[in-house]
Amino acid sequence: MRIWRCQIILEKLVYTEFFHNFECIIQDYYAMRIFIKDTKEDAGKWTADYIIEKIKAFAPTADKPFVLGLPIGSSPMTVYQGWIKRYQTGDISFKNIVTFNMDEYVGIPEDHPESYHSFMYTNLFNHIDIPRENINILNGNAPDLVLECQNYEAKIKEYGGIELFLGGIGPDGHIAFNEPGSSLVSRTRVKTLSYDTILANSRYFDNDMSKVPTHALTVGVGTVMDAREVVIIITGFEKARAVREVIEGGVSHMWTVSMLQLHEHAVIVCDEPATMELQVETVKYFKEIEKIAQSIYPGNNKQTEI
Ligand code: GLP
Repeated sequence: MRIWRCQIILEKLVYTEFFHNFECIIQDYYAMRIFIKDTKEDAGKWTADYIIEKIKAFAPTADKPFVLGLPIGSSPMTVYQGWIKRYQTGDISFKNIVTFNMDEYVGIPEDHPESYHSFMYTNLFNHIDIPRENINILNGNAPDLVLECQNYEAKIKEYGGIELFLGGIGPDGHIAFNEPGSSLVSRTRVKTLSYDTILANSRYFDNDMSKVPTHALTVGVGTVMDAREVVIIITGFEKARAVREVIEGGVSHMWTVSMLQLHEHAVIVCDEPATMELQVETVKYFKEIEKIAQSIYPGNNKQTEI
């Protein structure tokens, strides 16, 4: 906060060498950044562009691929649409990207229309140039589910860890399928789905809760926390309560995404409806930070505490 106030004063100064040095100093601050966009579409486009910038800066090659964690969901869908558009204009290639998806249901066939495999191929992979062998999604039909999870963790390690994990959240604040009460240091494992999640996801199963799988394989909170950067997109009023807990509440295993408060490089992108339960002061504060960041780094979304 003190640094932020200093920044406002400094913003009024001419761009001096001193100011430049100050920027360099603040770039070393670590934080959870919150970006509030008007609509779901704006949030998606912003997130898509933000991650593309990161990929370009990384300059991935076959020997040094960009390792990207991915979620399913209606919120990330707008991000995928943004990536597909930019791929189609020849602006980005996914050839040297390796992906690890967050989760998958247990016990429904891979080609089931609601499996997370189907979601990812239908909404992203079939429309970009990512090689099939670079795609990793947990197998919810593996004969040994525990071994499947252990191998997944090992494979992430083999690649040197995840560079950036994109995620969404459930209305109960879960990240991946880390339901309320999950360990905040958990690793990839089998999870029993909560009543809230089964209810929320029944919209994809003819609104029939009995058709929703009761178990899933999921990366752990610890697995997500190991990523060098985490970007969470949260849209819609039904997530507003979770957004309040995650941003204004403390770190709690009852709102597992709140663990990101302890991450060095975490970004949360919300649309306006998702912020409806936040205090006006909180919303104003984060919007002000963004405004100032834009005036310092126009068009650039530096990972900086300001
Ligand atoms: C499921 C997934 C989560 C995802 C959530 C949000 O519960 N396991 O990883 O974040 O759905 O989905 P939506 O964005 O459709 O609300």
